[in-house]
Amino acid sequence: MEVKTSLLDNMIGVGDMVLLEPLSEDSFLENLKKRFEHNEIYTYIGSVVISMNPYRSLPIYTPEKVEEYRNRNFYELSPHIYALADEAYRSLRDQDKDQCILITGESGAGKTEASKLVMSYVAAVCGKGQEVNKVKEQLLQSNPVLEAFGNAKTVRNDNSSRFGKYMDIEFDFKGDPLGGVISNYLLEKSRVVKQPRGERNFHIFYQLLSGASDETLKKLKLDRDFSKYNYLSLDSASVSGVDDAANFRTVRNAMQIVGFMEDEVQSVLQLVAAVLKLGNIEFKPESRSNGLDESRVKDKNDLKEMCELLGIEQSVLERAFSYRTVEAKSEKVSTTLNVAQAYYARDALAKNLYSRLFSWLVTRINESIKAQAKTRHKVMGVLDIYGFEIFEDNSFEQFIINYCNEKLQQIFIELTLREEQEEYIREGIEWTNIEYFNNAVICDLIENNKNGILAMLDEECLRPGTVTDETFLDKLNMICAQHQHFESRLSKNSKFLTDHSLPHNCFRIQHYAGKVLYRAEGFVDKNNDLLYRDLSQAMYKANHGLIKQLFPEGSPAKINLKRPPTAGYQFKASVGTLMRNLQTKNPNYIRCIKPNDKKSSHIFTESLVCHQVRYLGLMENVRVRRAGYAFRQAYEPCLERYKMLCKKTWPHWKGPARKGVEVLMSDLKVPAEEYAYGRSKIFIRNPKTLFFLEERRRQCLQDLATLIQKIYRGWKCRRQFLLMKKSQVVVAAWYRRYAQQKKYLKIKHATTVMQSFARGWQARKLLRQLKHQKRCEEAATTIAAYWHGTQARTELRRLKQEVRNKRAVTVIWAFWQGTKARRELRQLKEAARNKHAVSVIWAGWQGTKVRREYRKFFRANAGKKIYNFTVQRIIQKYFLNLKKNLPSMSPVDKSWPSRPYSFLDGVHAELRRIFHLWRCKKYRSQFTEEKKAVYEEKLEASTLFKDKKALYPSSVSQSFKGDYLEINKNPKYQKLHSAVDEKVLLADTVSKINRANGKGSPRIFLLTKKSVVLADQKSGQVKASVPLLDLASVSVSTQNDGFFALKLKEGSSSAVKGDFLLSSERLIEIITKLYRLSATNADRVPLNVDISDEFLVQFKNDKVCVKFIQGSPRNGSGASCKRKNNRLLEVSVPSTA
Ligand SMILES: Nc1ncnc2c1ncn2[C@@H]1O[C@H](COP(=O)(O)OP(=O)(O)OP(=O)(O)O)[C@@H](O)[C@H]1O
Ligand SMILES: [Mg+2]
Repeated sequence: MEVKTSLLDNMIGVGDMVLLEPLSEDSFLENLKKRFEHNEIYTYIGSVVISMNPYRSLPIYTPEKVEEYRNRNFYELSPHIYALADEAYRSLRDQDKDQCILITGESGAGKTEASKLVMSYVAAVCGKGQEVNKVKEQLLQSNPVLEAFGNAKTVRNDNSSRFGKYMDIEFDFKGDPLGGVISNYLLEKSRVVKQPRGERNFHIFYQLLSGASDETLKKLKLDRDFSKYNYLSLDSASVSGVDDAANFRTVRNAMQIVGFMEDEVQSVLQLVAAVLKLGNIEFKPESRSNGLDESRVKDKNDLKEMCELLGIEQSVLERAFSYRTVEAKSEKVSTTLNVAQAYYARDALAKNLYSRLFSWLVTRINESIKAQAKTRHKVMGVLDIYGFEIFEDNSFEQFIINYCNEKLQQIFIELTLREEQEEYIREGIEWTNIEYFNNAVICDLIENNKNGILAMLDEECLRPGTVTDETFLDKLNMICAQHQHFESRLSKNSKFLTDHSLPHNCFRIQHYAGKVLYRAEGFVDKNNDLLYRDLSQAMYKANHGLIKQLFPEGSPAKINLKRPPTAGYQFKASVGTLMRNLQTKNPNYIRCIKPNDKKSSHIFTESLVCHQVRYLGLMENVRVRRAGYAFRQAYEPCLERYKMLCKKTWPHWKGPARKGVEVLMSDLKVPAEEYAYGRSKIFIRNPKTLFFLEERRRQCLQDLATLIQKIYRGWKCRRQFLLMKKSQVVVAAWYRRYAQQKKYLKIKHATTVMQSFARGWQARKLLRQLKHQKRCEEAATTIAAYWHGTQARTELRRLKQEVRNKRAVTVIWAFWQGTKARRELRQLKEAARNKHAVSVIWAGWQGTKVRREYRKFFRANAGKKIYNFTVQRIIQKYFLNLKKNLPSMSPVDKSWPSRPYSFLDGVHAELRRIFHLWRCKKYRSQFTEEKKAVYEEKLEASTLFKDKKALYPSSVSQSFKGDYLEINKNPKYQKLHSAVDEKVLLADTVSKINRANGKGSPRIFLLTKKSVVLADQKSGQVKASVPLLDLASVSVSTQNDGFFALKLKEGSSSAVKGDFLLSSERLIEIITKLYRLSATNADRVPLNVDISDEFLVQFKNDKVCVKFIQGSPRNGSGASCKRKNNRLLEVSVPSTA
């Protein structure tokens, strides 16, 4: 369950000043002090937050705290700046109301810190995402940049903002930040050239000199030593706890995050360096002929360096420090500047340079952080502006600042009253007019366009003639004398003539927050804010983009004789814009107060705080807030808080909350004028009524606590008792059981013992009886035994005698019988022997007869069957063995298994033949047509030559290829091939034997279907072509040679040249082919093949005998042919041995 808390819980003092009772300045201060001492630095006045500067870091800004205050109602938790930030953010996000957070307070009161806390809270609770985080980061990082250039150490604050800042943060409809716009107000530029004792110039000067690298400083022509620069005060150049060098790095990093380009950063640093250099330029007087002094630059080095930095022509600037051109209508008059005027011009330039640079920075940051989306956005403005300033010596700046605060007070009153009134109307409460002080009259005194102080100052500044601060004061004395809030010694109003606290050169204004005395000196000058035109023109001529941009009025194209608007006028205009802007938004106020002047965390200087309470108008604030009803609360939380005060509403009220509150109030008898019922809230007029309710609640809570305690304790004790009682019963039951068990076991044991004793005794008694009985029985038995023994023995003796007599008779009888039996046995045996011999002889005779019969029968039938069977078995076995050992299917395989029985000789040989024939058939069946032809040819060869010519066996393995010369393909024989028009069946090289010397010469031998052709081996020319029909026969030897003679038919046309004696290794193939061709010829007369070792050959007219003889074996197998005589050619064939 969510724990409902309230601002009213655990209050130190009162958390809301509206509830202060009685309300007085003292009680107000007392409450602040009490809370400050308990580290409660935040206190409310209604919805306004008073923030006390704790001057130390408190653990109240942690992420856990952010979560605690997130989405909680404003009055739900103890006062905190986060509650205000959350309220503002939620009504912006959820109710679409633009918000502004106005933070005021005097220097060092913690305004800037407060604004940063608000921004960081909003950043923590709003949406997340890469783009949103970047926007948040840029918005947050704009702070360090502006603080470096716009903050300085003062006696009141080490990090005092020397400008007013208003920042609009823009959100989308979801509440995610989109961007922002910053406006700056009135930078305290006089600080650039002069700082009060104990104070410093703006932080950036010190940060640059401490933190920049040597290289950067060299580029900027700067020295790290502060003392070298006139514009830097030395007495408090370093601030304790502030690391300028580290801050410089932070600033550079922040500039990068915000989106400054590197060259922009460099330009900015150059301008800062130029201001330092400017401060070092000094002047000396130079007398002129007209007796007047004219200023001259003393040491030109700094001037030169500054001009180099900014790209300005040195002579132009130097002249601008010595002369001043005044333009009136069309005339230009140049007057010289004396040394004082030159210093004034220098400082004016430095101040302008710096303040314009600052404004440029704000513009540049705005460029980076401006919202990209064009959609309508919600806005939260945060105003961190100087609070009321009342010093001993107040000048133009204080006047302007206090004017701004008057305006803020005015809209505060307006908006607070308006809001109050709106709430009353919303809630239907009657509106009673509230008396309050309206400071519009003071604002009018200052800003009235006709006779307001600012208008008169402007009038005075623009007036021709001598204008001094005194003339201005005179004017004021004249015109404002009647005003009730204006006081002056010299005014016509005689009331102040004797008031010595009011010097003659001063005027005093009664501001809403108190009286302030202003010294008129410097008003005119500061309002004029004059920069000689020569200087702005010199700046415009600079060869430096940023400088040119900062001094647009120096442009010759823009020569404007009209005076620029005065500082007062500009400020009034920007305050007017700001006020209009704020009026459109829902205001949230943070009033910062500093507890002491010593920056100490423990001192509460009442006078100082009282002073601030007064000029912040806080009492006024409380009064306005309390004018109607001091306290209001919605019905539900109100009923929830006080329901225990009435029996009817406690503990639960069933009806509507408002009814419950009404019942409650009437039950408590609160006077009717003390409260009013709104539509959703109850309004309580006086805080004391609220405290009455609170006190009753406190008491009631105590009673309730006691009651709860009582009931709880009772309940706890009862529970304890019941528990113990229950335990006791259990323990007792267990114990009883245990005791009974023990007792039972004891009795059981005793019984067993007694039982055993009794049984033992009984047993022993029985045993004794049994033993006695047994002994008696044994004694009787023994006596009987003895008696029976005696009797038996007597009888035995008698019987023995009797048996002995009987056995003698039996033995004699038995002997007799035995003798008789043996005799008879012998007789019987004899008879049996005789009988057995007869049957044996008979059986032998019968057996012989039967065997003889059987033998006859066996021989006739069984012998034949056995024989047949045996033979069948043998043949079967033979066949099976043969099947197992069959030789391979190769027809040339000669092997054959050996025969097992000689009687199978014929069958065995026949089977071998059949098998061979069968496998040859198988083999043949595989032949292709070509192969068949080859084998037919081979068969033919074997028929012709087998066992007839010794050369034959070597030819068996040769394949008959026919065309050995590949005559078709070989291009060498192309001519020859074309000469033979038929298909060549054989082509080979042969030797033609010369009959003259028997030597062979190579010839191409071609065989076609019809003829034999011999051609020259080299030229391929046909030498002879013999038609096959002309061939009569062929002669070959029986030997291992290749000679063969082609014999021609006598009378044929080819026979003219005679027969041919040729030699070829392929003789067998040639002759076979010739033979087969002749057999297929038309007349089918097969060629006669003559095989003999001597044959005749017809060479032309001679017949020569060719004779083959066996020669000795030689190397090389060739046979040699020699002519022996005219009629004999001898061929010697080497023997093959
Ligand atoms: N809530 C806070 N917690 C801790 N320290 C704080 C807090 N608020 C302010 N301070 C301290 O007070 C110093 C001054 O605060 P800050 O700069 O916000 O004052 P200021 O009101 O802006 O003054 P000025 O008008 O001079 O700019 C801070 O530097 C810081 O040390
Ligand atoms: Mg500040």
